[in-house]
Amino acid sequence: MESVPFWNQRSSVNIWLASDWALHSPRKRNKNHPMGNSVKRRQFLQFLGVTSALGVGSASGFLSACQNLPRNRQPQIEGIPHLRTDDLVLTKGLRYDLVAKWGDLINDKGETFGFNNDFTCFLPIEGKSNEGLLWVNHESTIPQFIHNRPTSQLTRSRAEMIEEQKSVGGSIIHIKYKGSKWQLVKGSKWNRRISGRTPIPFSQGRNIQGKNVAMGTIANCAGGLTPWKTFLTSEENYDKFYGEIRWNKGKRIFEGYPGVAWYKKFNYPPEHYGWIVEVDPWTGKAEKQVLLGRAGHEGATCVVTKSNRTVVYMGEDRKGGFIFKFVSDGLHFKSGTLYAADTKNGKWLALDIEKNPILKTQFSNQLEVLTYSHLAGKLVGATPQDRPEDIEINPYNGDILIALTNNSDNKNYYGSVIKISEKNDFDSLDFSYDTLVSGGLESGFACPDNFTFDKNGNLWMTVDIGEGDMKEPHYKMFGNNGLYYIPMGGAHAGHPIQVASAPVDAEFTGPWFSPDFKTLFLSVQHPGSRTAKNMQKPTSQWPDGPGQLPKSAVVAIQGPLLDQLMA
Ligand code: FEO
Ligand code: CA
Ligand code: CA
Ligand code: CA
Repeated sequence: MESVPFWNQRSSVNIWLASDWALHSPRKRNKNHPMGNSVKRRQFLQFLGVTSALGVGSASGFLSACQNLPRNRQPQIEGIPHLRTDDLVLTKGLRYDLVAKWGDLINDKGETFGFNNDFTCFLPIEGKSNEGLLWVNHESTIPQFIHNRPTSQLTRSRAEMIEEQKSVGGSIIHIKYKGSKWQLVKGSKWNRRISGRTPIPFSQGRNIQGKNVAMGTIANCAGGLTPWKTFLTSEENYDKFYGEIRWNKGKRIFEGYPGVAWYKKFNYPPEHYGWIVEVDPWTGKAEKQVLLGRAGHEGATCVVTKSNRTVVYMGEDRKGGFIFKFVSDGLHFKSGTLYAADTKNGKWLALDIEKNPILKTQFSNQLEVLTYSHLAGKLVGATPQDRPEDIEINPYNGDILIALTNNSDNKNYYGSVIKISEKNDFDSLDFSYDTLVSGGLESGFACPDNFTFDKNGNLWMTVDIGEGDMKEPHYKMFGNNGLYYIPMGGAHAGHPIQVASAPVDAEFTGPWFSPDFKTLFLSVQHPGSRTAKNMQKPTSQWPDGPGQLPKSAVVAIQGPLLDQLMA
């Protein structure tokens, strides 16, 4: 028995939960593990609204939807173990095509696919699921790979930093499913780069630090799609590039931080970054949306209220960061109000200098409030969170799910998925707040980061254990970062199942389904990122194998398992 792999011992059942792998070594299985705990299951079902406990207005709609959904059938799915394999490993019934990787030529101008891809968003051409434009964020860059030099030789020239700036931002690529695989349409007029060197105006001609145009977009983490089908890309850890301003009653105090540190050779103001950038898919025209506020934004998830107002939910990924929402007055972003969440009292607090006079103690006008929206949130009493990352809205009950990835300062190493249920519509100022599932040994995952919901209302989640932390005692049992499927109904409701394992050092990011749900687009970000001394021996060889530098890439996942889950 000792020589039989753990997962083969369970051939009579068709599901492996992530907790099985986290709790028990493959050769030592404890049949009485805590995920059998009925209280936990009951709590989760109650949370989902499968019991009669939910009192929110949207619950009845969810219950009827739930009864009609095939997701209550037990999926024929096997989880995979937590692995250390330097490969993209998928569970049985899934396969992938590599759609684009760092350095691929995308157009006749010589522009190339950028570095460290994150958020992806597929926009069909003429309603087709097999052809469209894919937006891809390029969150950051790794100078030792860009210049193929060890970190000890990375004092870079200004020209070399410009090369790095061109590798971040985003790509628009025209892709098509042809010959049984997803392919880049070479020479398409729509293939283009928006980069750290693309001049981008601020919305409505606003002037920030003396200019109404910023140099480029950077730190593009998660994002969103507007109701009018433009891409939103969120600028997150801009401080690692251009530093940060500590604002104190009209005084700007600059602080530089380690990282790629372009501020050492470029004096672009930190206030030009941290915005939500809107990009027209067909023209590439971009604009920084000032009314949505400036912070280290992870994403920008849009939804339309019954009264035709667009609401945008945004996480602020920093220790003690806030959850923000912007509520437009009409459909578009021409006017509206930015709020920060007080989750202790279930209130959205307006970051509006006229409605909240305390803001006048620091700021002299609303543009300053929007520019330093973390400080504004702190002043009005928003609740600090353990690093809010991606946000998605449950299509069946309107719950807003938020990944709180971790916060070592609070000894929260594994993070959690929380939910906000708005009292009435998405523009409500009152909400209830709860925890959906916590990371850790019992749930079998750590550090939730990105989400997407599938056709049947089940959740797909990627995690991000820092590559420098993966071998630490808190994390080593989780293996490489993974992609998890969380059934939201049926026999395994609430139990994460790992369906993909990332190459060494990498995280999966940006999951997004094609409109027919036959393809899941996914980014593989920063494989081999701990490579420091010997460029001939990178810590990962994915995806090109020996003798090549590792490369971030976007993959398209398909297969009979996905078809079955979407039936
Ligand atoms: Fe870019 Fe918060 O991850
Ligand atoms: Ca993220
Ligand atoms: Ca998402
Ligand atoms: Ca993260």
